[in-house]
Amino acid sequence: MTTDVRTLEWTGDGLRLLDQTLLPERVEYVVVRDVGALVDSIRRLVVRGAPALGVAGAFGVAIAVRQATREGWDDARRDAAIDLVRGARPTAVNLAAAVDRVRPFVAGGADAVVAEAQAILDEDVRGNRAIGALGADWILHRTEDRPLRILTHCNAGALATAGWGTALGVVRELHERRRVELVYADETRPLLQGTRLTAWELGQAGIPCAVQVDAAAPSTILRGLVDVAVIGADRIAANGDTANKIGSLGVALACAEAGIPLVVAAPWSTVDLAVPDGGGIPIEERAPEEVRSWRGVPAAPGSMAAVNPAFDVTPARLVTALVTETGVLEVSTGATPSAVSSRV
Ligand code: MRU
Repeated sequence: MTTDVRTLEWTGDGLRLLDQTLLPERVEYVVVRDVGALVDSIRRLVVRGAPALGVAGAFGVAIAVRQATREGWDDARRDAAIDLVRGARPTAVNLAAAVDRVRPFVAGGADAVVAEAQAILDEDVRGNRAIGALGADWILHRTEDRPLRILTHCNAGALATAGWGTALGVVRELHERRRVELVYADETRPLLQGTRLTAWELGQAGIPCAVQVDAAAPSTILRGLVDVAVIGADRIAANGDTANKIGSLGVALACAEAGIPLVVAAPWSTVDLAVPDGGGIPIEERAPEEVRSWRGVPAAPGSMAAVNPAFDVTPARLVTALVTETGVLEVSTGATPSAVSSRV
């Protein structure tokens, strides 16, 4: 990614976000300085992706502290505002976890919160570099020695993190090692994070990419056109069950059928050891309008009912490898995050 495009950045008095709802047509930024604007930005996916949500949430606590001072809120009102940020999206555990991490700094004032939030941002970029290197090593050990055809779903790139990316961090690393032939980017219905964001981000990086509709992914895999699928995660249960963008499960089933690896790349902060298995992961249900229409243009008759789960859960047995900044777990062989947590 070109260095002048930053997903999110603290400006000194607010959080500057690259507005991902406008990509790829427009590269525009918005600065949020109050909790209402931040929560709205999170819900509308101006900022999105589990690690980026974590960073946004951490700075959101600083925004709440500053707003409380500015507007004379009492502690209860300030804490309620922080809770609002924490719960703005339910599936990505990074959001709640990052808010919880910076909360103890509230008593020290906004600057103390900002310092800890910035630490989370810096750790994320460093962690993504490590994920990229570990993931590339693991994949290159298990695939033929030639440029790879990689499939990815949604956007787990620099746009979904503080920089570099998780799944796309692995792709970037493989590209730097001249081991990428083509990336299939699933369109990712209904909001097209693949067609709009992954395609844009890979284009910026000069990585060859083809978009395809989600429904094409299993067929592309079973036709032998893919060497490895690499996806991100929003929450990983203690047993390795993995929640990621809706449609990931179909990719996982196809990988298992074709006998190719499904690699989940995510920071350890996406692992939620408090949730024993995927059944305990809250799945965000979004507005039916996102399915019934596209940018205000109706696609379904009238008030047709629609279901719109934003995520699905891939069972651990279908996850060949989980790559975090601390190492690679071969989940489908029985290695679980809970078993290694004592080493992290
Ligand atoms: O609804 P989104 O766009 O926030 O969903 C994002 C994903 O599902 C990503 O794959 C996941 O958060 C990992 S981002 C590194």
